Amino acid sequence: MRSVIDIKELSVSEIDELVSVAKDIIANPEKYAHKCEGKKLATLFFEPSTRTRLSFEAAMYELGGNVLSMASAASSSASKGESVADTAQVISCYADIIAMRHPKEGAPMVAAMNASIPVINAGDGGHNHPTQTLADLLTISREKGRFDNLTVGFCGDLKFGRTVHSLISAMERYEGVKFVLISPDELTVPDYVKRELDKKGIPYVETTDLTAVMPELDILYMTRVQQERFFNEEDYLRLRDSYILTPEKLENAKSDMIVMHPLPRVNEISVAVDRDPRACYFKQVLNGKYMRMALILKLLGL
Ligand code: NCD
Repeated sequence: MRSVIDIKELSVSEIDELVSVAKDIIANPEKYAHKCEGKKLATLFFEPSTRTRLSFEAAMYELGGNVLSMASAASSSASKGESVADTAQVISCYADIIAMRHPKEGAPMVAAMNASIPVINAGDGGHNHPTQTLADLLTISREKGRFDNLTVGFCGDLKFGRTVHSLISAMERYEGVKFVLISPDELTVPDYVKRELDKKGIPYVETTDLTAVMPELDILYMTRVQQERFFNEEDYLRLRDSYILTPEKLENAKSDMIVMHPLPRVNEISVAVDRDPRACYFKQVLNGKYMRMALILKLLGL
């Protein structure tokens, strides 16, 4: 029985295997339509979500399985004070696999330690979001055809953006990858992320200037300023519009650069950018469903 809490728990060859299963699902969906018959996925979301929860549920239905879902954290027994450890043991009696999102860093890991079924981290606080990374990796594979020799720019809230931390952690394993970390000084990547890059000698630069670095990038990964993780509203209001990507700003970018965003977008990418063929954020959404299908199959040993 195996869980996925951190993207690093999947080796580079397992990532390759998930990417090829996802591509096979895209090419031959009928082959997979009954693979999870009789199996149940429980989605336990203690934080708001549209894409991640619905894409897990769509993934399970497309595999022929079923879904158990709580309406909201407020309507669950967590509101009566039940611990994550107890909830995990209880859900293990009903379902075959759990996808859990929680505002506390580490909560899905506690669930995994107490569940007798696999647990997938669907986002824990400002920490990690491994299945968004799987969506991002399939997008990079389909759009760029490789994971190595890429200059990847991350822009926006690199401090609280869990999708950023997980994607850096996945991409740093490939040869010739460079990171350009673009953020206001208050929202730079956490020290533990930088320490890891330093330790491995992976090249990265930190800057506040998106326009200056734009021509170097193969991938521009935009992010939303994570309002819910701010302690004060004033800082949020000051920082939220630090970067707004517009068609004008993209004029300096490579013609084959791709623009990614885990979504939801607030106003960090102008809607006019959606018509640019380099915009890939809605493709990421679809790719996320296929990678979640591949991951569910793997963890259920099917
Ligand atoms: C992200 C998240 O929840 O971390 N959304 C998602 O799952 N696609 C990004 C965000 O909320 O900004």
